[in-house]
Amino acid sequence: MWQFLARNKHVAAMLGVLGVAAVVVIVLTTRGASHYVVESRPEETEDVSSDPHVFSTYTLPSEDRFMPSIGNGHVATNIFSDTVYMNGLYNGRKGVSRRARIPGYANIRLNSTLTHYPFKPVYSLDTRDGVFKVRVDRDRSIVTQRIYAHRFYTRAIVNQIQVVSKPHVDPNFMHHEIWIPVKLMPGPDSDDINFEERVPEKYDGRTLWSSCGKTKEVEDDTYQPLPVDVCVYWTSVPDHLVVPQHGSRVFTFAMSVDNNRTVAREELLKVLQEDGEELFQKHVKPWHQLYQQSGLDIEGNLNLSKIVNGIWYFFLSSLPSEQSYQPLNRFFGLSPTGLARGGTFDDYEGHNFWDTEMWMFPSILLLYPQYAKILLQYRLDNAYVAAQLAKLTGNKGYRYPWESAYTGVEVTQPCCPEVAEFQQHITGCISFAVRQYLATTRDEEWLKHGGCSIVTNIADFWASRAVINYNTGLYDIENVMGPDEDHSNVTNSAFTNVVAGYSLYLAQYVSCLCKSYYMAKDPDHWADIAWSLALPYNAELDYHPQFSGYPRGEGIKQADVVLLGFPLQYPMNTSTRANDLSYYESVTRGSGPAMTWSMHTIGHLDLEDNLRASALFNKSYLGYVREPFKVWSELRRPKVGAVNFFTGMGGFMQTLVFGYAGVRIHLDRLEITRPQLPPEATRFRVRGIKYLGANLSLDIEVKGAELTVNSLDEGTPLVFYNGRYNVTLLPEMTVTLSGKGPFTIRAAQWKDCKLPDDTIGQNYLRPFGS
Ligand SMILES: *[C@@H]1O[C@H](CO)[C@@H](O)[C@H](O)[C@H]1NC(C)=O
Ligand SMILES: *[C@@H]1O[C@H](CO)[C@@H](O)[C@H](O)[C@H]1NC(C)=O
Ligand SMILES: *[C@@H]1O[C@H](CO)[C@@H](O)[C@H](O)[C@H]1NC(C)=O
Ligand SMILES: *[C@@H]1O[C@H](CO)[C@@H](O)[C@H](O)[C@H]1NC(C)=O
Ligand SMILES: *[C@@H]1O[C@H](CO)[C@@H](O)[C@H](O)[C@H]1NC(C)=O
Ligand SMILES: *[C@@H]1O[C@H](CO)[C@@H](O)[C@H](O)[C@H]1NC(C)=O
Ligand SMILES: *[C@@H]1O[C@H](CO)[C@@H](O)[C@H](O)[C@H]1NC(C)=O
Ligand SMILES: *[C@@H]1O[C@H](CO)[C@@H](O)[C@H](O)[C@H]1NC(C)=O
Repeated sequence: MWQFLARNKHVAAMLGVLGVAAVVVIVLTTRGASHYVVESRPEETEDVSSDPHVFSTYTLPSEDRFMPSIGNGHVATNIFSDTVYMNGLYNGRKGVSRRARIPGYANIRLNSTLTHYPFKPVYSLDTRDGVFKVRVDRDRSIVTQRIYAHRFYTRAIVNQIQVVSKPHVDPNFMHHEIWIPVKLMPGPDSDDINFEERVPEKYDGRTLWSSCGKTKEVEDDTYQPLPVDVCVYWTSVPDHLVVPQHGSRVFTFAMSVDNNRTVAREELLKVLQEDGEELFQKHVKPWHQLYQQSGLDIEGNLNLSKIVNGIWYFFLSSLPSEQSYQPLNRFFGLSPTGLARGGTFDDYEGHNFWDTEMWMFPSILLLYPQYAKILLQYRLDNAYVAAQLAKLTGNKGYRYPWESAYTGVEVTQPCCPEVAEFQQHITGCISFAVRQYLATTRDEEWLKHGGCSIVTNIADFWASRAVINYNTGLYDIENVMGPDEDHSNVTNSAFTNVVAGYSLYLAQYVSCLCKSYYMAKDPDHWADIAWSLALPYNAELDYHPQFSGYPRGEGIKQADVVLLGFPLQYPMNTSTRANDLSYYESVTRGSGPAMTWSMHTIGHLDLEDNLRASALFNKSYLGYVREPFKVWSELRRPKVGAVNFFTGMGGFMQTLVFGYAGVRIHLDRLEITRPQLPPEATRFRVRGIKYLGANLSLDIEVKGAELTVNSLDEGTPLVFYNGRYNVTLLPEMTVTLSGKGPFTIRAAQWKDCKLPDDTIGQNYLRPFGS
């Protein structure tokens, strides 16, 4: 993606095209808490908590966009914003499709957080419990507000305000009740949704409100005949909460949102029927279960462990609950700024890009494969639209759009047609994600239900894009753009050709896995094209030019060729890898997006240059992580770009899992090489790695590393190889990883399909006729 810089240039032109509606949307970004906060805020505020899971502060961040979010994969909001978003709710035609704004009936503010009060609130994001808290120590009471998107009652965002009176009081107030002023601030009406009149209803002595409506515009007439329905229910909020002098009380307020009125209403009623503390416990329990399943534990470097905990919290907040009171709706993807953002042109509108598959997916796959499957499902759901796009552009198979939202059609903004036209590598990136999914799960059911088809159709697309070049005897892929968006409409982008080649090889392999139930016409044909695809390589300088004719020395926007080394793991000589890294490091924009430096860090770790790696590791997050809530910006301070930048988080997470912990996914094995501590840490544990049904943990300390088998799938025995001998893994076994490795774990019995060759641009090495 990263049209952000390109976009700014085009904003004026774009506004001309879009007219008034777009202007209104952009104005939305400036709305929020800032109007009401009198104190001026410093540039960065401090996180004063020493708990690695809790980020606390007395002062809110300088800009509202650095406020954290709450979410549960169905609804999400930024704390103190007047906007709520729902999974799959978009408004706007084609390139202006964006998350539709629902007024923030969850935005309940204590007066102490709005005006200069004598009482200074403490604000905390508790990532372990998935809740944002405000605590105010007043003269006569302690008030604690909890705001959370319920992880079981998934349609609901809950506000609970607890008031506890203090025992020693001024005799003057002896018989007075305690009054706590509060205010509901939902913001103006939505510009995206035509809501009908609000309807009041009495329930258990309270007034509930509801309003239903439809989005204003469909995304695409062919694939979305009707606008989307949405219903909101919410509790009315008084001006004051009143508590008797010696009492203590919890007040629960909630809003609920769904496409279906009955579902939204039932959810709200259910929330209100629960006892306050039980309601909270039903939310906390699934969060704790998620963290118990898997995680990255870092000791000795508090800042680092906080950033990591923040990342999992943000990722999981945008992924669906595993258990919910009512069945969940379809999931519409993990977009680069998550579910809590995307109503504006700055935050990628809630669209889905290659970011999902290339940046967020790999770590999610190893720790939470159930979510990796859900992410791939979004692509399967849109396969028929991808088939139409391929047809439209004169190709075969599936061509996935650069950006997609509700229907799966191309929704790239009108500003930037070239990214949509040329960044076709997204289709290869989806296949690369599938490759990793198959490598770690061997999910045969998934192959049967769409997997075989998506892999072979993606290969058909690339086969139809490759054209023979009679001068070289190789296939070229023309008119593309690699991840580096500074170079458009090029031929043989090294990154594109490698993901295309991998896609072709994977189809040959998968055709064999699927052969008993899925017919592929000529699987070897795909491999033949891949084998003969051009891959730019300069033998004299021993490096990969970014594309055919790339002028050496010309600056680039972000990691591109460097991705061949990792994540693509394209085999090359160490000297080539080192040259690619040092050359592209010298020509990449310093202010570029965060994930670039994560990949350079992994490169230097692979080259065993730890000092250089740790310098780039610093570069990959310092200036991108915004205090105090560890929200990520796309660009380094003082620039900002999109917020909260999941893509940068995804790259950083890969540095830890695949870089420092040294885990690598291959089709026939899981490899661990040179597991080591990240800078300044004294212990690093990757808990709950899921591999072929097994649950493994990697424990790295100064004195060495160990692999523990928490459990195994009985049907899939695994063998561990330490470089000298093989050990059959047993439940609860711990093996020591001494030396550098590589240590490998593989299935004892393997289905008999030849692994893909995965060599690209080598046709001249192939004996004639074979
Ligand atoms: C609450 O704050 C508002 C300003 O946002 C102020 O007008 C109002 O008087 C305050 N209420 C109380 C009871 O202090
Ligand atoms: C709404 O949900 C209710 C309860 O789950 C269900 O019976 C009804 O069919 C749904 N309505 C629509 C239009 O889907
Ligand atoms: C994996 O093993 C860990 C450690 O025993 C355990 O806490 C976790 O629940 C297991 N995860 C799953 C998904 O079984
Ligand atoms: C940890 O982060 C804080 C910013 O919140 C910074 O002030 C502090 O220097 C960092 N500590 C270390 C050891 O890097
Ligand atoms: C892309 O390059 C081709 C030549 O390969 C040219 O015909 C075409 O007009 C270019 N497209 C754009 C949008 O620049
Ligand atoms: C890689 O190194 C080997 C020798 O170690 C050499 O024969 C080969 O030509 C090199 N390959 C490239 C692409 O430079
Ligand atoms: C990385 O940053 C930390 C401070 O956060 C610093 O202590 C360390 O020296 C830096 N490492 C390198 C290699 O620059
Ligand atoms: C270990 O197992 C692998 C694969 O099963 C086999 O190829 C290899 O020869 C074995 N190595 C030893 C030393 O037994």
